[in-house]
Amino acid sequence: MPGDSKSSRGTPSVSTESEKELGADNGLQMAPELMLNLARKAADILVERNERLPGEDAWEGDFRQGLEEELLKDPPEDGRPAAEVLEQVAREILPFATRLDHPRCFAFIPSSPTWPSVLADFMAAGYNINTVTWLVASGPSQLELVVIDWFRRWLDYPESAGGLFTSGGAAASLDALVAAREAAGHPERATVYMSDQSHSVLRRAAMIIGVRPECIRMVPSDPCTRLDMEALTRAVTEDRAAGFSPIAVCANAGAASTGAIDPLEAMADFCEAEGIWLHVDAAYGGFAIVTEQGKGLLHGIERADSIGLDAHKWFFQPYEAGCLLVKDGRTLEHAFEVHHDVLQDTIWGADHPNFADRGLQLSRSLRALKVWMSVQTFGLGAFRRAVLKGMELADRAEAYVRESPTLEILTPVSLGIVCFRINPTGTDLDEKVLEEINRNVLARVFWEDRALMSSTLVGKMFSLRLCILNHTTTWNDVRETLEATERFGQEAVSP
Ligand SMILES: Cc1ncc(COP(=O)(O)O)c(C=O)c1O
Repeated sequence: MPGDSKSSRGTPSVSTESEKELGADNGLQMAPELMLNLARKAADILVERNERLPGEDAWEGDFRQGLEEELLKDPPEDGRPAAEVLEQVAREILPFATRLDHPRCFAFIPSSPTWPSVLADFMAAGYNINTVTWLVASGPSQLELVVIDWFRRWLDYPESAGGLFTSGGAAASLDALVAAREAAGHPERATVYMSDQSHSVLRRAAMIIGVRPECIRMVPSDPCTRLDMEALTRAVTEDRAAGFSPIAVCANAGAASTGAIDPLEAMADFCEAEGIWLHVDAAYGGFAIVTEQGKGLLHGIERADSIGLDAHKWFFQPYEAGCLLVKDGRTLEHAFEVHHDVLQDTIWGADHPNFADRGLQLSRSLRALKVWMSVQTFGLGAFRRAVLKGMELADRAEAYVRESPTLEILTPVSLGIVCFRINPTGTDLDEKVLEEINRNVLARVFWEDRALMSSTLVGKMFSLRLCILNHTTTWNDVRETLEATERFGQEAVSP
């Protein structure tokens, strides 16, 4: 066990005695031939779906009642042919979802995984990897260190930085705020600051770590939806004077609504001077850092104490592939390392990190493998070009909107997000009427067009929103969606 030099390369012997007693096959195993056939069938289904996808709608769904009638059944005592089960899944369950990887999926934060990354999840599950501790998964843990170190370098973080893969941005935010709270000495009357554009997961993370809801300060943002520095300064000053303990400021590097990037340099200066932990939520926007443009836009991110970024968003990985990096890697272990007798055998040398000591999760899948395999397969250049394409398509969409007599841009395009609405020039429609028109147009795109858009609020204005991140999206996809929106808008204004 710990400390001995046992290699895992020997062939394990199987106890034939216990096999006889308990029966090696209790009905949960499959013949190799069947395993292969099923894997091929699953791959066939997926590849065929990928080919069909661009011609289908970006959304499919059904009401609860219909789905319940199909699916709400007791588990069978005896099984049925696996191929039949697989076919049912592909026919009755998985298609009823937003196709987030559709080239015309512009809603929420879309995501289009690469094939090697899908296979990586299959491989990691097949080997049943648990990256809980070094002893349990040394090779996979080393791989996670490698990929975390790639991210560290892309973000221009110091060598002292460390981190871990998480389920996503919400989990990364929670882990970050735990670290922030511990770094601040776990004070009473803690306060946390974020812009009114920050994702709700940050607010929830603050609540989970024990910050009272009324002590979460939603700092107003400016007309470009970037956090207002004066308002932040004022809030912190007033709180300190009233005896509160500010423990963290959260910045957006790609707000989910508008793509806004908060003033990262100014926030870093402020947090440094005030001795407050700066967390940057770069869940969707962070991977822009692999492009020159993104590097410029995200300048200052490297000064944050922690950064959350999701490879399952703009780095083309299947769910789940979140990540948290902290500037001083030791802060995570300081915050999370808790001894448990049953895990005492995990102590194996001094320089072997146990990922379970860095965050909330104990058992953890090998999320780093998908990033590693897909970057190895395509090269970082391909990822760079794909991210850049999203930004360029959004710029073109903005230019299209600005030239259209029917459409109006509502915020400057940022990190692939375009916020706009129907508001024909020469009309003087009041806000209520405009909202109704735009809601109707959104619904018509939803029901009548292949594309899927979503909406948001910019200030108090109802906004249509295109989030252009998928690597399969072309200008044709964006243009035709804008044309449909314009057409529906014109019809709504002059029926
Ligand atoms: C800016 C931002 N932060 C956090 C999150 C939450 O991330 P996740 O859904 O991976 O937990 C999202 C999700 O879209 C996001 O866009």
